[in-house]
Amino acid sequence: MLLVPASLPFPLSPAAVYGREGPWVLEIGVGDGRFLVELARAHPGWNLLGAEVAPASVSRALRRLRREGVGQARLYLGDGRFALRNLAGRRSLARVYVNFPDPWPKQKHHERRLLRRPFFELLSTRLQDGGELLFTTDHEEYFHFAIGEARASGLFAVTTAPPPPEALRTKYARKWLDQSKPIFHARFAKTAEAEADFPPLRRYPVPHALMQGTPPPASEFTKLVATDAGVNVVLLEAWQAAAGMVVLARVEEEELTQEVLLEVRPSSKGVYVGLRPNCNPLVTAGVKRAVGLLVDWLEKRGLQAAQRSY
Ligand SMILES: C[S@@+](CC[C@H](N)C(=O)[O-])C[C@H]1O[C@@H](n2cnc3c(N)ncnc32)[C@H](O)[C@@H]1O
Repeated sequence: MLLVPASLPFPLSPAAVYGREGPWVLEIGVGDGRFLVELARAHPGWNLLGAEVAPASVSRALRRLRREGVGQARLYLGDGRFALRNLAGRRSLARVYVNFPDPWPKQKHHERRLLRRPFFELLSTRLQDGGELLFTTDHEEYFHFAIGEARASGLFAVTTAPPPPEALRTKYARKWLDQSKPIFHARFAKTAEAEADFPPLRRYPVPHALMQGTPPPASEFTKLVATDAGVNVVLLEAWQAAAGMVVLARVEEEELTQEVLLEVRPSSKGVYVGLRPNCNPLVTAGVKRAVGLLVDWLEKRGLQAAQRSY
């Protein structure tokens, strides 16, 4: 039920993931998963994908889907924009739902809002012809903001209407209705497609290096940072384990943040530098950079790289 992107080809093949054909529908920000259960009951033929950034919410949603016997839904723990760009192929989605997204009310935080023009441009390439986004919110200013962004993209026809009943039964809908707040709803129907095709993140073979020399102790390690071309890599800390030194890295690129464990350990061919076994990230440019940064650090401490595969 929980998709692990590192072990899946991009974009996903819905027929392979769900074992059947059917309209493919994405919800971004599923919270506790209540809405997915509603959708599954109302539309047994739909294949559902829920994206959610908060691990605790994903765990609650997983429990709910299992408890309610929903077999047609999958969850992705991460940013909905990543799911849209990488998991969904071109013109693959019939519909996208966004219910009560975080409003980021301060002007200086508007760039963090989900429903901005670049999102609508990407969305236009992932929706089928005739596909639509259904948006429900309690936040009137964000409501008009999103409509303005969609119109500015020139790719969507916007209609407003009362929210569908199922959108009024989510956790946040109930919270705002209990406070007698008005709820706003809009449909964004795709009318054209952005020219850019927004290719999925590029993936690479597993990076590693073989080095000669004696690695320094982990106690000599200090935080290392590399930032280039939209990739931000931080080697945060290192510690000594039985097999060698382990390094925790945080890799941020586009809408993806990964925590990756690297290791430096003796092998029959020298000193191996690469991913720790069972650490199975998406091997992106950033993950390669993390391995490269560690190799650079080791070179500065007198080791020589005999082979680099990254
Ligand atoms: C206000 S809650 C609404 C939850 C649910 N839709 C509801 O109506 O009860 C917003 C949710 O969106 C999630 N979220 C925020 N930004 C996201 C993103 N970029 N991708 C996926 N989920 C996101 C948050 O973690 C949170 O669970």
